[in-house]
Amino acid sequence: MIGVIGGTGNTGRAVVKALKEKGSEFRCLVRDPEAAKKLFGEVVELEYGDVSDHSSVEKGLEGCEKLFLLTGHSPALAEQEIGTIQAAKRAGVNYIVKLSGGDAVATEDCPSLIGRSHWQIEQALKESGLEWTILRPGFFMQNLINTAGMVKGQSKVMMPISSTVKIAMIDVNDTGDVAAEVLTKPGHESMTYFLSGHAYTLEDFTSILSNELGSDIPYLEIPLEAAVKAMKERDMPDWLIDHQSALMGIVNSGIAGTTNDHIANLSGHAPSTLEQFVKNHIDLFKN
Ligand SMILES: NC(=O)c1ccc[n+]([C@@H]2O[C@H](COP(=O)([O-])OP(=O)(O)OC[C@H]3O[C@@H](n4cnc5c(N)ncnc54)[C@H](OP(=O)(O)O)[C@@H]3O)[C@@H](O)[C@H]2O)c1
Repeated sequence: MIGVIGGTGNTGRAVVKALKEKGSEFRCLVRDPEAAKKLFGEVVELEYGDVSDHSSVEKGLEGCEKLFLLTGHSPALAEQEIGTIQAAKRAGVNYIVKLSGGDAVATEDCPSLIGRSHWQIEQALKESGLEWTILRPGFFMQNLINTAGMVKGQSKVMMPISSTVKIAMIDVNDTGDVAAEVLTKPGHESMTYFLSGHAYTLEDFTSILSNELGSDIPYLEIPLEAAVKAMKERDMPDWLIDHQSALMGIVNSGIAGTTNDHIANLSGHAPSTLEQFVKNHIDLFKN
């Protein structure tokens, strides 16, 4: 039995879909079982489990030998996931697949708390005595959906990222396929995989979007200060603004543009392209 934590989120839903396609036995630990039942219907086994309450995780994982571990952004990320690794071990889990930050972010000295937290969790997992695999996805294509309001309201995309810098972008569905493969086939123990997809600039994104919409959507690089001001106006917490600002700096340095073949080698299919992604989600960008 495979336990899945984070199954209701962007990546987790893709992991659930891929495990279902493989016919695997799995159980999602969720903090709101009623909401999860509405999302998945009766076909997915659900159990209560909140990563802030490690005893609920231990109980919910009884009978699971494997665990897919992902939680959302939180300043308590390290405490939540390190406690969850220990609770999973007590429950009898012997193999954990952790969804981490990308190679440029999950570092000991990352300027973002979230990046440093991912690095600390990775170390704790490696020292836990359990078998492990770490998946380090790059920039999610799904992040680009956040620009839909700007596209619909102002017919442009503005971000504090250089128009010429390449970013390795991944569709969460590819991460789901890789995770399901790693969870169900042996040979990935003690491996860390950076999942890169193809690399694009944000001008590539707006050019694909312009083609699909049939109208010109320019990309404009704005100063980081302007983006921080907008995030403050949206009442974003300081730790999240710091995380987003750190990410922009990392992306602008160019180190988030490295690509490799892990998605193709692990999932058996080529990584999704940005053209496919924009086509699949074009209605979200239309008024
Ligand atoms: N965005 C990027 O470009 C990017 C790139 C690389 C890595 N990452 C990493 O990917 C992760 C986010 O992935 P995502 O976008 O797929 O996540 P997401 O959509 O935000 O989903 C988070 C999941 O975690 C669950 N969760 C949150 N708090 C929980 C708790 N206390 N107990 C139990 N479950 C809890 C949520 O459940 P509910 O349904 O109850 O909310 C949800 O299923 C982060 O760790 C981030 O650092 C992101």
